[in-house]
Amino acid sequence: MAAEVDHLLFYLLLVSSVMTLGIASAIVFLAFKYRRGSKAERHSAGHGHGTMLLEVTWIVIPLFLSMIMFGWGAAVFFRLFDMPDGAMEVHVVGKQWMWKFQHPDGRREINELHVPLGQPVRLNMISQDVIHAVYVPAFRVKHDVLPGRYTSLWFTATQAGEYHLFCAEYCGTQHSLMKGKVVVLEPAEYQAWLAGTKLNQTPVQAGAALFDELRCATCHRAAEPNRPRCPSLEDVFGSQVDLADGTRVLADEAYLRESILRPAAKIVKGYQAAMPSFEGQIGEEGMNDLVAYLKSLSAQPPGSSQP
Ligand code: CUA
Repeated sequence: MAAEVDHLLFYLLLVSSVMTLGIASAIVFLAFKYRRGSKAERHSAGHGHGTMLLEVTWIVIPLFLSMIMFGWGAAVFFRLFDMPDGAMEVHVVGKQWMWKFQHPDGRREINELHVPLGQPVRLNMISQDVIHAVYVPAFRVKHDVLPGRYTSLWFTATQAGEYHLFCAEYCGTQHSLMKGKVVVLEPAEYQAWLAGTKLNQTPVQAGAALFDELRCATCHRAAEPNRPRCPSLEDVFGSQVDLADGTRVLADEAYLRESILRPAAKIVKGYQAAMPSFEGQIGEEGMNDLVAYLKSLSAQPPGSSQP
């Protein structure tokens, strides 16, 4: 639909530009011609006559131009939201502050959406908290994602590649970080991706990949050391952590696990309870990988038992 949307937008721009230029130059010209002290004729002989034609002209022409906008715009709008039959359905859940996608075969991903080239894809969307909006500028599609109500959107990707995905509705502090990408793959590559496994990765590698996939790095590897939003995870494992309630806790596997699933349970001193819960999003295998990765961030984890 991108070309159609662009043509319509170009028409709007063209009409607006011509109108703006015409009106602005008329203002400037008339202001100059009839400036105070000029010798211009201020009482035309034909005043009161022959203006009907002019009136009708400047009513009919803009009406015609804007009815084109209306008709054309409505046609494009209806096609944009007329869901095609047989589209591949992807479930989308928006939440503060991430996008969760689930493919027809059950495969889930976060902040990334892999789709096959040339096939209509329908997004069935709902929000878990506040109003978000899915926006893929390259596809010229955008729609609100609402709590308690399903909305949908469709597109057919026509070129392989990676495209930005944004949240286009201000949804809280980290709205600007609620972004991701749409990865368009050749159909065969998409099938391979669907069938992909992590068998060739060590738990630490898989955990690192999961860490990126879950966007942990946006906070926990933040490049603002003076103003970190979250505690650094370097050397956390095996250390004593001071908590906001004044107690101390040993950062062991159970602590890491609890802090991922129920971040509010133990808040590190000096930080806010800003992290979303990952409960229900990480399977047991994934959790093992993630904890293995976090452990690997400690140079010499004291008291840890090596597997
Ligand atoms: Cu979600 Cu902005």
